[in-house]
Amino acid sequence: MLIKKINELREYIRPYKANNETLGLVPTMGALHNGHLSLIKAAKEKCDRVVVSVFVNPIQFGPNEDYNKYPRTLKADYELCMKNGVDAVFSPSPEEMYGAGFILSNDNLTYVCPPYNFTDKLCGKSRVGHFDGVCTVVNKLFNIVQPDFAFFGEKDAQQLIIIKKMVKDLNIPIEIIGCPIVRETGGLALSSRNKYLSENGKKEALLLSKILQNIKKCYKQGIINVDLLKETAFSFLNNNVELEYLEIYDSDTLEEKQEADDNSRAFIACRVEGVRLIDNIKLGE
Ligand code: PAJ
Repeated sequence: MLIKKINELREYIRPYKANNETLGLVPTMGALHNGHLSLIKAAKEKCDRVVVSVFVNPIQFGPNEDYNKYPRTLKADYELCMKNGVDAVFSPSPEEMYGAGFILSNDNLTYVCPPYNFTDKLCGKSRVGHFDGVCTVVNKLFNIVQPDFAFFGEKDAQQLIIIKKMVKDLNIPIEIIGCPIVRETGGLALSSRNKYLSENGKKEALLLSKILQNIKKCYKQGIINVDLLKETAFSFLNNNVELEYLEIYDSDTLEEKQEADDNSRAFIACRVEGVRLIDNIKLGE
């Protein structure tokens, strides 16, 4: 079932709620791939009913980002969801979510802003306000769908950590389930933005996972000094890949440490053919 209106979604979930059926939400921006499908699969296994939201959220994109050209493939997304046993796809318009005229002025919207310690690094550093936009829309989706469980990918590890923090700090009665990164055979993490890459760009993009794998290998061999671990990346870099950040932080708190441990995670962001790609790996698994 495809639902575009908030009221209709509320009507739709009412009988399931009354019946005490468990509800799972998989929030997405569409252009669904096997990464999204793994979240849907996890939701299907855990919940009686599964709602997938497909909404390209304007307030999490910066002015120079790809909001307008972000791939929109609702028909294919909907069919894929139905084929995979999803009960309802919720795909509201920006006006439905934020009210008419929001694009001209969004300074009268109540935002949910995660703490600075979690947003002043990694993607939050270059994408100022991004996580305010994410937390605001996810909170709205939580209030609309009222799921028991919500599923997020470790692909966007900073996002997952911040959403867990939001749920804890605001006492939101929803369990957040993190799901492992799905990769292509070569190691490239699946992303809706991979569509922007040429065949050659895709080959160059393999560098991200190679750098992370190598850091993990070095850690397993006994190198724990974070600076030394980061330096192992230099030999991989070339002119076709522009490094935005490479950091090693705690997997739960994003705290910086001088020595890595099993709970440390290496995070990387690069631009390949102008496309911003991110990836991460936990060192201790
Ligand atoms: P989107 O980029 O569409 O991703 C939706 C979910 O799919 C996120 O939880 C993301 O981590 C997960 N995902 C994407 N690629 C993955 C992969 N290769 N393996 C595993 N999971 C993967 O993230 C967003 O949308 C938005 O910020 C959203 C949370 C929907 C708020 O607008």
